[in-house]
Amino acid sequence: MASAQNRAKKQGKSSPVFLCFHIPIFISLHFSTFAQSTPVFACDVKSNPGLAKYTFCNPKAAAAHRVADLVKRLTLEEKIGFLVNSAGSVSRLGIPKYEWWSEALHGVSNVGPGTKFTNLVPGATSFPQVILTAASFNVSLFEAIGKVVSTEARAMYNVGLAGLTYWSPNLNIVRDPRWGRIQETPGEDPVLTSKYGSAYVRGLQQRDDGDKDRLKVAACCKHYTAYDLDNWKGFDRYHFNAVVTQQDLDDTFQPPFKSCVIDGNVASVMCSYNQVNGIPTCADPKLLSGVIRGEWKLNGYIVSDCDSVDVFYNTQHYTKTPEETAAKAILAGLDLNCGNSLGKYTGGAVKAGLLNESAVDNAVTNNFATLMRLGFFDGDPSKQLYGNLGPSDVCTTAHQELAREAARQGIVLLKNSEGSLPLSPTGIKSLAVIGPNAKATTTMIGNYAGVPCKYTSPLQGLTASTATTYAPGCADVFCTTVQLDDAKKAAAAADATVLIVGTSDAIEGESRDRVNLTLPGQQQLLVTQVANVSKGPVILVIMSAGGLDVQFAKDSSKITSILWVGYPGEAGGAAIADVIFGYYNPSGRLPISWYPQSYADKIPMTNMNMRPDPATGYPGRTYRFYTGPTVYTFGDGLSYSTFYHQLSQAPNQVSIPLEEDHVCHSSNCKSIDVVQQSCANLAFDVHLRVKNTGKMRGTDTVFLFSSPPSVHNSPQKHLLGFEKVSLDPQTEGLVRFKVDVCKDLSLVDEVGGRKVALGQHVIHVGSLKYSLNVRI
Ligand SMILES: *[C@@H]1O[C@H](CO)[C@@H](O)[C@H](O)[C@H]1NC(C)=O
Ligand SMILES: *[C@@H]1O[C@H](CO)[C@@H](O)[C@H](O)[C@H]1NC(C)=O
Ligand SMILES: *[C@@H]1O[C@H](CO)[C@@H](O)[C@H](O)[C@H]1NC(C)=O
Ligand SMILES: *[C@@H]1O[C@H](CO)[C@@H](O)[C@H](O)[C@H]1NC(C)=O
Repeated sequence: MASAQNRAKKQGKSSPVFLCFHIPIFISLHFSTFAQSTPVFACDVKSNPGLAKYTFCNPKAAAAHRVADLVKRLTLEEKIGFLVNSAGSVSRLGIPKYEWWSEALHGVSNVGPGTKFTNLVPGATSFPQVILTAASFNVSLFEAIGKVVSTEARAMYNVGLAGLTYWSPNLNIVRDPRWGRIQETPGEDPVLTSKYGSAYVRGLQQRDDGDKDRLKVAACCKHYTAYDLDNWKGFDRYHFNAVVTQQDLDDTFQPPFKSCVIDGNVASVMCSYNQVNGIPTCADPKLLSGVIRGEWKLNGYIVSDCDSVDVFYNTQHYTKTPEETAAKAILAGLDLNCGNSLGKYTGGAVKAGLLNESAVDNAVTNNFATLMRLGFFDGDPSKQLYGNLGPSDVCTTAHQELAREAARQGIVLLKNSEGSLPLSPTGIKSLAVIGPNAKATTTMIGNYAGVPCKYTSPLQGLTASTATTYAPGCADVFCTTVQLDDAKKAAAAADATVLIVGTSDAIEGESRDRVNLTLPGQQQLLVTQVANVSKGPVILVIMSAGGLDVQFAKDSSKITSILWVGYPGEAGGAAIADVIFGYYNPSGRLPISWYPQSYADKIPMTNMNMRPDPATGYPGRTYRFYTGPTVYTFGDGLSYSTFYHQLSQAPNQVSIPLEEDHVCHSSNCKSIDVVQQSCANLAFDVHLRVKNTGKMRGTDTVFLFSSPPSVHNSPQKHLLGFEKVSLDPQTEGLVRFKVDVCKDLSLVDEVGGRKVALGQHVIHVGSLKYSLNVRI
């Protein structure tokens, strides 16, 4: 709590002065400033009846009409004030300042200036970092979390502590295990990332009244595109030119953004710092106007990273003058600048004839339309849907319970020798708890966090079930020196040992890529030495985002279980104890591959290619393409139960009817184009009978993969779908997959076209495989 209060205080100091009647007077002796108690909103016709005559203030008028009315009343200078995140006010029209930058990656965050915590709302529910939530493979969980976050965001907005526009989620594909921002993402698979993104966005944006034109809060999918290098051996994101093939772009990096816009109906996309094939993404008319707005039909605004407009001028020297920079960005399709480059130089660009005022109009129209959908121009928010939410709707028992549930659902059991987990809460009289992450608090919430409601550290969680002795072993995760004596003494005396090791945001974070994949510093020494003297089961708990080379632990007979817990959020310690003591049967699966250290020694992080290159020995990336050894791989994860799989419906053949003029009628085709009509709605079902043959109730996470014929450099295997089924011991359930032939089974060819490969596809369903012949 101490650190929570400090952070709240720091936030209070940096915020502007407003009146506040909720905070007791004595606080003002310590806080020079505090947040206002009502949200900012335009069209306050009650205090300013003159505003009622403006069409843009009339909630009954059509939205497009209202936006046009507003834009036409503004001077060029005023409009330019709405191109930047700290948007200007226009008092003659009753429009207050608005701060666009808020974040809500896994809970309402105070990273952006639009949101702060004060005594009024000292914290918000802090869910697991996204990489762990993704490991649950539970789409309804993704949406449920988004819904809680948007409720807390609205509650904070209503007391003037938060904005309405949130720059989350992060949907960049994890290409390399060293990337520092893995924690923020749903992992390496485009299908999982797409499903995560669209579900989380729905949770944030969808209103309970079903009004699709309006938004609860606005989400933003970032960082568009092919962005996944932060700072590695002298290469950084501000200078990096990602050299990406059209095939990799279209089948790996773009799908989550496409799904976010089309399936998630997101209100915003953020362009990244890096260049893609020599062009800064925020200056690329093909990527912005062409794809996001043209092909995908974004209903919302395109925003720059902070401040990627300045970066492509000052750091990348892509443009010669700041005015040319402003013009390039807006003409490419950028609507809002996080930063102030457009605020400073757009006027000059128009004056110099580099940009017409109509282009500025287009940009602010997209921004105002978004605020319009949020009710910003509808007058007093307390009279609107969600106007009744307030501080008591933040950190509710139910919300905090969902944070614990999300961590439980994500935790992955990677190894479990006979007789190890779960530990018996009555049988284990003493538990040694060892390691630099045993008392983790801030480490559990990772980056883009807020102030949590409270923390339950792993040590606190475990101590709630049994007597514990604790020895850190190392001062922190860097573990430059190791203190073995106390740790070994504790382990030797206890019935079981839990070692809680791993990384933190200080080792893998934003602007911080790793160079090694091994446990940091002396942690491996600590683990092996402690394990060697333990008499009971030894449970290795790895708290990290990226994978670690723990081959030594996988191979060790002394280390009887391995759990990966991601960064498990504010209730992480309770969830870890729930799994260790068997109150919860794990069902999480790895959303990324774990590579050996040799991968980091050999492969340059700057190589964007997903596909292997036999000529150079380059092994490719992710389970879809990588051909080398792994420590663990995408989809790995065990349960305390065993599940028996039996196919009950699985067609061996599908025929795609061809249109008469299709070229494959006359030639020997290896694949067909999916654009043709006959491909639409062609689907088949795969049904799997799952029986829980274990002794505990458990949940089986079932994957459906396909290994297509090898044409067009196809992936060796790709995910078509996933389903979960919860079963009591000795009971059976049916898992049903519907496979859309052209959508799910297709792949991207060398030039970015979608194709269905003809011939034998190996379909992997749970633990089974069978062959499917796709023909014309
Ligand atoms: C998925 O998550 C939701 C929300 O927590 C939960 O109600 C549901 O039981 C979960 N599904 C499975 C199969 O675990
Ligand atoms: C500005 O508009 C005029 C008239 O439509 C057009 O000819 C010109 O190319 C535009 N200039 C820029 C920089 O877009
Ligand atoms: C990475 O591993 C090498 C070799 O084991 C070691 O010398 C180096 O200090 C490590 N670097 C970091 C940052 O841990
Ligand atoms: C494990 O402990 C035994 C003594 O109990 C010792 O002989 C051996 O060297 C230790 N092994 C390691 C790897 O520390």
